[in-house]
Formats: sequence, C-alpha cells, structure tokens
Amino acid sequence: MKTIFVKDYDEMSKKGYEIIQDVIKTKEQPVISMTTGGSPRGLFKLFVEDINKGLDISNATIMNLDEYMGPKDAVYTVRTFMYENLYNLIDVKPKNIFLVDGTAQDTDKEIARYKGILDKYPRDVQVLGLGTNGHIGANEPGTPFDSTMFLAKHDESTIQSTMREYGIERKNTPTEMLTLGFTEILEAEKVILLVSGKHKAVAVKALLEGEITSDCPATALWNNENTIVIIDEEAASLLEKDHKSL
Ligand code: F6R
Repeated sequence: MKTIFVKDYDEMSKKGYEIIQDVIKTKEQPVISMTTGGSPRGLFKLFVEDINKGLDISNATIMNLDEYMGPKDAVYTVRTFMYENLYNLIDVKPKNIFLVDGTAQDTDKEIARYKGILDKYPRDVQVLGLGTNGHIGANEPGTPFDSTMFLAKHDESTIQSTMREYGIERKNTPTEMLTLGFTEILEAEKVILLVSGKHKAVAVKALLEGEITSDCPATALWNNENTIVIIDEEAASLLEKDHKSL
C-alpha cells in the first residue's frame, strides 16, 4: 500500500482523478469500478468536466462495487448516485455500464450474475471510500479477509453515515448491501482509497498505525502493492508517525 498526503478534499479529488484519467487514456478497453458517497463526488465532477470537453470514454466500461438493498430509484442507491453524478451529465456514454441489482429477490443469483461480469471485465481500477469504522465497500469490521461478493449487514455507524450523507430518516435508511468482498476488490490492477475529513481521522490512524486486523477492514489493503491511499490533512490529523508520501 502506498500513501499520498494532500492538503484538502479538492486536492484528493484531483490526485484520484489523475489516476482514472491515465487509465482512460492509456488502456484500449479501460474498466473502472467506482464507489459512491461523499468521498468520490469531487472526482466525479472532474470526470464529467473532462468527458464533456472531449475525453473519449466510448471504449470504457464503468461499474460499481456495491449496491444498497432497496428500491432502484431511492435517493441513497448506488444507481441513483451514478446517474445523478455521472451518466445523466454526459452526452457520450461509456461502452458498458454495469450495476449491482439491489432489488434482487434471489441475492445468490445476483451475486453469480455480477461475478460473471467481473470475470469478463477485469478491472483496471477500483475506487474506494473509507468508512468511519474502517469499512471498505460494505466489508464491515469482522468480515474475514478472504470474503467474496456477499450480502452484508451494515454496522450502526454505517447506517448513521448513510442517513447523514443522504439526509434521510432511519426508517428509510437501508441496512443491507450487496458488496464485492476483499477478494474481488484486490483483484483490480489498481486500488485507490480516497480519504478526507476529520470524521475519518480515527479510521486513518487504525489503518496506518494499527495492526492488520479484520477489526479495521481497510487494513486488508496493507500488503497490496497496487493500492494508493490518498489522505487529506484533516483525515491525517491523528497520525503520530512519519509516513512516506508518493
Ligand atoms: C459506498 C461504499 C462505502 C463508502 C464509505 C465512505 O458505495 O462502498 O464503503 O465508500 O462508506 O463513504 P463516504 O465517502 O460517504 O464517507
């Protein structure tokens, strides 16, 4: 795992986006797997601006690593986020858009369908955000490091974060999510973890200065050479040791 320390959210978004831009420009058939939520919003903004200025994404495949269980058009779904922050804002569409179906009654069947897509489209990049409890995707604390795509139950802190992020009441907030496991996350050629804000500082300290343990799921990335964690000053504010920045 490598770290890049940046000043603030905007710089984090810029650095993260540069990696996406490079993949789009250098790969013939780029495959990018995104995350949703507050962390990647700025990156999406830069991506949309570039596409509308002519960045060619006609050969690109864009997918996501997870989806909340709930109605397709709910305000919190990954689907809604992706349309509002990317697909509805661009004239030229990517070659393929893949989304996990959070309305699936038979989740095993949906997992098998999505795994088929993952096998057919090896990912050049997986973008991730960090939960305040250290989760990645919906791999909550306690998830074994050999997890494969599964139906996850959210921790209380994750439910609270979703309520805050989407301004919704608890009774309307999803409690489960279909998510890639650590196994599929780490199969991507590059993994980018975007971390910004004071509310992430405890998780960042556990990630960079704690033990490798399923209590802090993001530590599953520790031994992965191809992971780049981009951390802003507020998120890094509890760190006590010196850490190298790329
Ligand atoms: C959402 C997802 C989550 C978020 C994480 C951080 O698709 O996979 O793991 O990345 O909860 O959320 P934000 O960025 O809103 O702080």
